[in-house]
Amino acid sequence: MLGKKVGIDLGTSCTRVIAKGEGLVASEPTVVAVHGRDGAVGVLGGSALEDAGGNAELRLLRPVAGGEIVDADAVRVLIGQVIARAVGRQRIFKPDVVIAVMSGMPGDQRRALLEAATFAGARTVYLLDSPIAAAMGAGLRISGANGHLVIDVGAGKTEVAVLALEGTISGRCLPRHGGERLGSAIAAHVQREHGVALTSPVIEDIVASLARVGPHEERRLEVEGGIGSRLASVVLTSTELAPCLDEHVRPIMSALDEVLSDTPAALRSDIAREGGMLCGGAGRLEGLGRALVAAAGFDIRSDREPQLSVVRGTGYALDNLDVLKRTFMYIR
Ligand SMILES: Nc1ncnc2c1ncn2[C@@H]1O[C@H](COP(=O)(O)OP(=O)(O)OP(=O)(O)O)[C@@H](O)[C@H]1O
Ligand SMILES: [Mg+2]
Repeated sequence: MLGKKVGIDLGTSCTRVIAKGEGLVASEPTVVAVHGRDGAVGVLGGSALEDAGGNAELRLLRPVAGGEIVDADAVRVLIGQVIARAVGRQRIFKPDVVIAVMSGMPGDQRRALLEAATFAGARTVYLLDSPIAAAMGAGLRISGANGHLVIDVGAGKTEVAVLALEGTISGRCLPRHGGERLGSAIAAHVQREHGVALTSPVIEDIVASLARVGPHEERRLEVEGGIGSRLASVVLTSTELAPCLDEHVRPIMSALDEVLSDTPAALRSDIAREGGMLCGGAGRLEGLGRALVAAAGFDIRSDREPQLSVVRGTGYALDNLDVLKRTFMYIR
């Protein structure tokens, strides 16, 4: 092996990077800080958030929103930083790079990514649809003729897909539908009903420890937020969040329904036998798995570290570039 092999999960909230033989080499918020107007110098992730805190010269940019590339310049800085970090000091041989992207990502955004990686010094760049990556990362063997179901609920998007023969048999991609939208809906509810403005970390905490799908014993959580310029605390209940959760879950259920009805009967019975796989950070939402099982009528398991399924899948793809080439969009 000459050049390194690098796998990137370019998530809306988090960018995760694997280097072949080294495992996970980076896991950073998908954000960059660039200098002033020219945007020449870039800093990645956590350091960007820290640096921008005390420096008015730095602009914070989020290259991905709702699963889509919304800022081509920022994505170039981000991919440049990520590849430089993964490659390290070994700069003689160019790396091969696999980037997992939203399956519904339009062509111009794909092109922007391919160019960004090439500009960053990649020898070959492959774009892999994230449901395929998620399935491989979760250990599903999608090279055979059997059908497999994967559901990935991330921060910015949701994907539901049936895969077989290394490709997608049927799929639905829900851009802008994920943990962040659920968080915004909860924040809007709290603002409306309690007059309290919440910060992002508090919203994340509510999503992770109070929000719950389906019938359950009521829970309470005391949180702090702002009323004008002063801090106030408010007690929230899981019951009052039910409408927000219904709104969040309904489109996921419909997507699952549609994907299964688009799937040939033989593959559907493979799935009913084997069960489905739930991935993505927001796949950890309490009660979601159970609600999906009830709707589907078959088992749906969760990947052990569901937020890492996709990046693990890019690592698997790096080991199988030749086999998987035909499902990729790539330039060499
Ligand atoms: N325990 C939990 N319960 C509910 N939601 C959670 C939990 N832990 C994390 N999340 C949510 O998971 C989301 C992050 O998931 P993930 O890292 O898979 O997203 P991403 O890959 O960056 O985004 P995307 O794939 O949508 O582009 C956040 O919205 C976060 O609120
Ligand atoms: Mg993701």
